[in-house]
Amino acid sequence: MHWTTDRTPPSVEPVVITKTRSPIRSSVGLKAVMAVTGILVVLFLIVHMLGNLKIFTGETSFDHYAHWLRDIGTPLLPHTWYLWIQRAVLTVALVAHIVAATVLARRARAARPVKYAHRKKVQGSYAARTMRWGGVIILLFVIYHILDLTTGHLNPQGDASNPYGNVVADFAPERWYVTLFYTLAIVTVGFHVRHGAFSAFRSLGQQTPQGERRARAAALVLAVALCGGYLVVPFAVLTGLVS
Ligand code: HEM
Repeated sequence: MHWTTDRTPPSVEPVVITKTRSPIRSSVGLKAVMAVTGILVVLFLIVHMLGNLKIFTGETSFDHYAHWLRDIGTPLLPHTWYLWIQRAVLTVALVAHIVAATVLARRARAARPVKYAHRKKVQGSYAARTMRWGGVIILLFVIYHILDLTTGHLNPQGDASNPYGNVVADFAPERWYVTLFYTLAIVTVGFHVRHGAFSAFRSLGQQTPQGERRARAAALVLAVALCGGYLVVPFAVLTGLVS
């Protein structure tokens, strides 16, 4: 007996092979990965911003702070070990954040194989729509920033013993384009954090319109505080307040 290729015999049930997926690879698991890694990076961002503000306490104090960073954990840990552990944790967090975001985005796309004939123009807030590109800009910025102020390769002074001088040389008025680039990147960080924090606060808080309003406000306050705290440093150098 023949079956045409596009038909299955009525008596044969399709065989469904179900693979068991580890809970972390479920969409809820991946969202949890995004939240935990996002929180780690935001904690770093808050501490790093507060540390940067020490620039207003003067050159000796700022350089002392930067050298102290290398001594955190001593004598329990050897010199610079804490910094390297932090770097490893942040790198793993960043990679996991990006991988989880990519897998979730692919799944969302696969769930709708047929594109909308007319894609709706309005899809959530501006921050929500720019998460992917925002993430790419932030990643490129972090690479540039490390080569600039950590290794010194892209810094006009690049003296590891004088981070204060490196920051002042970096944002000198004639290098206004560096301040412009930092401003763009920091505002992008602000949008990214605002949306990420809003999603996290909304999930954690009350699922009511009032809870959502509170989550939105808290995320905005966090993002504005971070942006302001970071931007004040290059603009203080640009305007000669820090020199
Ligand atoms: C105008 C704003 C900023 C200033 C003035 C600044 C300043 C600095 C300085 C001076 C260092 C070197 C610290 C040291 O090695 O002693 C550094 C490292 C670093 N910054 Fe920033 N930063 C700014 C914004 C940011 C932002 C927005 C991010 C993340 C999105 C960021 C991420 C990092 C990272 C990952 C390092 C490397 C830390 C390490 O050596 O382990 N920074 N920053």
